[in-house]
Amino acid sequence: MAPLTFRTAAADDIERLWALRAEAARVQCAGYYPAEALETWLAAPPSAAFRQYVAQGHALIGERAGSLIGYAVIDAPGRELEALFVAPSAFRQGYGAQLLQRAKHLAATLGIDSLTLSAALNAIDFYRAHDYELITTDSFAHRSGVTLERGVMRKTLTPTSSS
Ligand SMILES: CC(C)(COP(=O)(O)OP(=O)(O)OC[C@H]1O[C@@H](n2cnc3c(N)ncnc32)[C@H](O)[C@@H]1OP(=O)(O)O)[C@@H](O)C(=O)NCCC(=O)NCCS
Repeated sequence: MAPLTFRTAAADDIERLWALRAEAARVQCAGYYPAEALETWLAAPPSAAFRQYVAQGHALIGERAGSLIGYAVIDAPGRELEALFVAPSAFRQGYGAQLLQRAKHLAATLGIDSLTLSAALNAIDFYRAHDYELITTDSFAHRSGVTLERGVMRKTLTPTSSS
Protein backbone atom coordinates (compact mmCIF):
# COMPACT_ATOMS: atom_id res chain seq x y z
CA MET A 1 0.00 0.00 0.00
CA ALA A 2 1.51 3.32 -1.07
CA PRO A 3 1.48 6.01 1.61
CA LEU A 4 -0.57 9.12 0.98
CA THR A 5 0.76 12.63 1.27
CA PHE A 6 -1.51 14.75 3.44
CA ARG A 7 -2.24 18.43 3.38
CA THR A 8 -4.88 20.71 4.84
CA ALA A 9 -7.64 21.59 2.39
CA ALA A 10 -8.18 25.20 1.34
CA ALA A 11 -11.29 26.98 0.14
CA ASP A 12 -10.32 26.55 -3.50
CA ASP A 13 -10.25 22.74 -3.03
CA ILE A 14 -13.93 22.59 -2.07
CA GLU A 15 -15.29 22.20 -5.58
CA ARG A 16 -13.00 19.22 -6.30
CA LEU A 17 -13.79 17.64 -2.94
CA TRP A 18 -17.50 17.95 -3.63
CA ALA A 19 -17.08 16.36 -7.06
CA LEU A 20 -15.09 13.45 -5.58
CA ARG A 21 -17.81 12.98 -2.95
CA ALA A 22 -20.43 12.55 -5.69
CA GLU A 23 -18.27 10.13 -7.70
CA ALA A 24 -17.53 7.98 -4.66
CA ALA A 25 -21.12 7.91 -3.46
CA ARG A 26 -22.55 7.13 -6.92
CA VAL A 27 -20.29 4.08 -7.17
CA GLN A 28 -20.54 2.73 -3.65
CA CYS A 29 -23.88 3.92 -2.23
CA ALA A 30 -25.84 2.76 -5.29
CA GLY A 31 -27.70 -0.37 -4.30
CA TYR A 32 -28.05 0.83 -0.72
CA TYR A 33 -30.19 3.92 -1.42
CA PRO A 34 -32.87 4.72 -4.01
CA ALA A 35 -31.23 6.46 -6.99
CA GLU A 36 -33.51 9.48 -6.75
CA ALA A 37 -32.79 10.03 -3.06
CA LEU A 38 -29.07 9.64 -3.70
CA GLU A 39 -29.09 12.26 -6.46
CA THR A 40 -31.14 14.70 -4.36
CA TRP A 41 -28.63 14.29 -1.53
CA LEU A 42 -25.66 14.76 -3.87
CA ALA A 43 -27.15 17.79 -5.60
CA ALA A 44 -26.99 19.87 -2.41
CA PRO A 45 -24.12 22.37 -2.52
CA PRO A 46 -21.45 22.37 0.18
CA SER A 47 -23.01 23.57 3.43
CA ALA A 48 -21.87 26.67 5.29
CA ALA A 49 -20.69 24.32 8.04
CA PHE A 50 -18.54 22.38 5.57
CA ARG A 51 -16.94 25.60 4.35
CA GLN A 52 -16.28 26.52 7.95
CA TYR A 53 -14.55 23.19 8.73
CA VAL A 54 -12.29 23.83 5.75
CA ALA A 55 -11.62 27.42 6.89
CA GLN A 56 -10.73 26.09 10.34
CA GLY A 57 -8.16 23.72 8.83
CA HIS A 58 -10.14 20.64 9.82
CA ALA A 59 -10.34 19.10 6.34
CA LEU A 60 -7.52 16.77 5.30
CA ILE A 61 -6.64 15.90 1.73
CA GLY A 62 -4.80 12.72 0.80
CA GLU A 63 -2.81 12.81 -2.43
CA ARG A 64 -0.56 10.54 -4.46
CA ALA A 65 1.84 12.04 -6.96
CA GLY A 66 -0.13 15.26 -6.75
CA SER A 67 -3.47 13.57 -7.53
CA LEU A 68 -6.42 13.84 -5.18
CA ILE A 69 -7.14 10.41 -3.68
CA GLY A 70 -9.57 11.30 -0.90
CA TYR A 71 -10.41 13.54 2.01
CA ALA A 72 -11.65 13.55 5.57
CA VAL A 73 -13.28 16.30 7.63
CA ILE A 74 -13.65 16.76 11.37
CA ASP A 75 -16.47 18.72 13.02
CA ALA A 76 -14.70 19.62 16.26
CA PRO A 77 -17.64 21.06 18.25
CA GLY A 78 -19.77 18.09 17.21
CA ARG A 79 -16.92 15.65 17.99
CA GLU A 80 -17.74 14.03 14.68
CA LEU A 81 -16.04 12.65 11.61
CA GLU A 82 -18.04 14.78 9.19
CA ALA A 83 -16.87 13.20 5.94
CA LEU A 84 -14.58 10.54 4.50
CA PHE A 85 -14.46 9.88 0.79
CA VAL A 86 -12.03 8.07 -1.49
CA ALA A 87 -11.99 8.32 -5.29
CA PRO A 88 -13.57 5.19 -6.82
CA SER A 89 -10.44 4.39 -8.83
CA ALA A 90 -8.60 4.14 -5.50
CA PHE A 91 -11.12 2.05 -3.51
CA ARG A 92 -9.87 -0.91 -1.47
CA GLN A 93 -6.21 -0.01 -1.64
CA GLY A 94 -5.92 1.06 1.98
CA TYR A 95 -6.34 4.79 1.36
CA GLY A 96 -9.57 5.10 3.32
CA ALA A 97 -7.78 3.48 6.27
CA GLN A 98 -4.91 5.99 5.99
CA LEU A 99 -7.31 8.93 5.86
CA LEU A 100 -9.29 7.58 8.80
CA GLN A 101 -6.12 7.19 10.84
CA ARG A 102 -5.00 10.72 10.03
CA ALA A 103 -8.45 12.15 10.82
CA LYS A 104 -8.40 10.31 14.13
CA HIS A 105 -5.11 11.97 15.01
CA LEU A 106 -6.48 15.37 14.05
CA ALA A 107 -9.52 14.71 16.25
CA ALA A 108 -7.29 13.71 19.15
CA THR A 109 -5.21 16.88 18.79
CA LEU A 110 -8.46 18.86 18.91
CA GLY A 111 -9.21 17.29 22.27
CA ILE A 112 -11.84 14.85 21.04
CA ASP A 113 -11.80 11.65 23.10
CA SER A 114 -14.84 9.96 21.56
CA LEU A 115 -15.39 10.30 17.81
CA THR A 116 -18.90 9.82 16.39
CA LEU A 117 -19.86 9.47 12.74
CA SER A 118 -22.88 8.91 10.52
CA ALA A 119 -21.99 6.02 8.26
CA ALA A 120 -23.63 5.49 4.92
CA LEU A 121 -25.03 1.94 4.99
CA ASN A 122 -22.35 0.81 2.52
CA ALA A 123 -19.58 2.08 4.78
CA ILE A 124 -20.62 0.46 8.07
CA ASP A 125 -18.37 -2.58 7.53
CA PHE A 126 -15.43 -0.33 6.70
CA TYR A 127 -15.76 1.47 10.03
CA ARG A 128 -16.39 -1.79 11.88
CA ALA A 129 -13.08 -3.04 10.49
CA HIS A 130 -11.52 -0.06 12.27
CA ASP A 131 -13.20 -0.74 15.63
CA TYR A 132 -15.99 1.80 15.39
CA GLU A 133 -19.03 0.51 17.25
CA LEU A 134 -22.44 0.63 15.63
CA ILE A 135 -24.58 2.45 18.20
CA THR A 136 -27.81 2.45 16.21
CA THR A 137 -29.26 2.72 12.74
CA ASP A 138 -31.83 5.41 12.14
CA SER A 139 -33.16 7.78 9.50
CA PHE A 140 -32.07 11.35 9.33
CA ALA A 141 -33.51 14.30 7.44
CA HIS A 142 -30.85 15.83 5.21
CA ARG A 143 -31.04 19.55 4.37
CA SER A 144 -31.65 18.58 0.71
CA GLY A 145 -35.08 17.31 1.74
CA VAL A 146 -34.39 13.55 1.57
CA THR A 147 -34.48 11.18 4.48
CA LEU A 148 -31.62 8.70 4.48
CA GLU A 149 -30.79 5.69 6.60
CA ARG A 150 -27.47 5.79 8.39
CA GLY A 151 -25.46 3.98 10.99
CA VAL A 152 -24.47 6.02 14.02
CA MET A 153 -21.01 4.79 15.01
CA ARG A 154 -18.52 5.72 17.66
CA LYS A 155 -15.00 5.02 18.77
CA THR A 156 -13.22 6.02 21.94
CA LEU A 157 -9.89 7.59 21.05
CA THR A 158 -6.96 6.67 23.21
CA PRO A 159 -3.30 7.53 22.76
CA THR A 160 -2.58 3.84 22.18
CA SER A 161 -5.31 3.02 19.62
CA SER A 162 -3.67 2.18 16.32
CA SER A 163 -6.55 2.13 13.80
C1 LIG B 1 -15.83 3.79 2.59
C2 LIG B 1 -14.51 4.25 1.98
C3 LIG B 1 -14.10 5.58 2.59
C4 LIG B 1 -13.45 3.17 2.25
O1 LIG B 1 -12.22 3.58 1.66
P1 LIG B 1 -11.27 2.51 0.95
O2 LIG B 1 -10.00 3.21 0.59
O3 LIG B 1 -12.01 1.84 -0.15
O4 LIG B 1 -11.04 1.47 2.11
P2 LIG B 1 -9.69 0.69 2.50
O5 LIG B 1 -9.06 0.13 1.26
O6 LIG B 1 -8.85 1.56 3.33
O7 LIG B 1 -10.29 -0.49 3.38
C5 LIG B 1 -9.70 -0.95 4.55
C6 LIG B 1 -10.51 -2.12 5.09
O8 LIG B 1 -11.82 -1.69 5.44
C7 LIG B 1 -12.74 -2.73 5.05
N1 LIG B 1 -13.61 -2.21 3.97
C8 LIG B 1 -13.37 -1.19 3.14
N2 LIG B 1 -14.42 -0.95 2.35
C9 LIG B 1 -15.32 -1.86 2.67
C10 LIG B 1 -16.60 -2.13 2.20
N3 LIG B 1 -17.21 -1.42 1.26
N4 LIG B 1 -17.26 -3.18 2.74
C11 LIG B 1 -16.67 -3.92 3.70
N5 LIG B 1 -15.46 -3.69 4.21
C12 LIG B 1 -14.79 -2.67 3.70
C13 LIG B 1 -11.94 -3.89 4.63
O9 LIG B 1 -11.59 -4.65 5.77
C14 LIG B 1 -10.72 -3.23 4.06
O10 LIG B 1 -9.61 -4.04 4.05
P3 LIG B 1 -9.43 -5.09 2.80
O11 LIG B 1 -9.61 -4.33 1.53
O12 LIG B 1 -8.03 -5.61 3.02
O13 LIG B 1 -10.49 -6.13 2.98
C15 LIG B 1 -14.61 4.41 0.44
O14 LIG B 1 -14.92 3.16 -0.12
C16 LIG B 1 -15.62 5.44 -0.02
O15 LIG B 1 -15.27 6.60 -0.21
N6 LIG B 1 -16.88 5.00 -0.25
C17 LIG B 1 -17.93 5.84 -0.82
C18 LIG B 1 -18.30 7.01 0.02
C19 LIG B 1 -18.70 6.64 1.41
O16 LIG B 1 -19.59 5.84 1.61
N7 LIG B 1 -18.02 7.27 2.35
C20 LIG B 1 -18.32 7.10 3.73
C21 LIG B 1 -19.44 8.00 4.08
S1 LIG B 1 -19.84 7.75 5.78
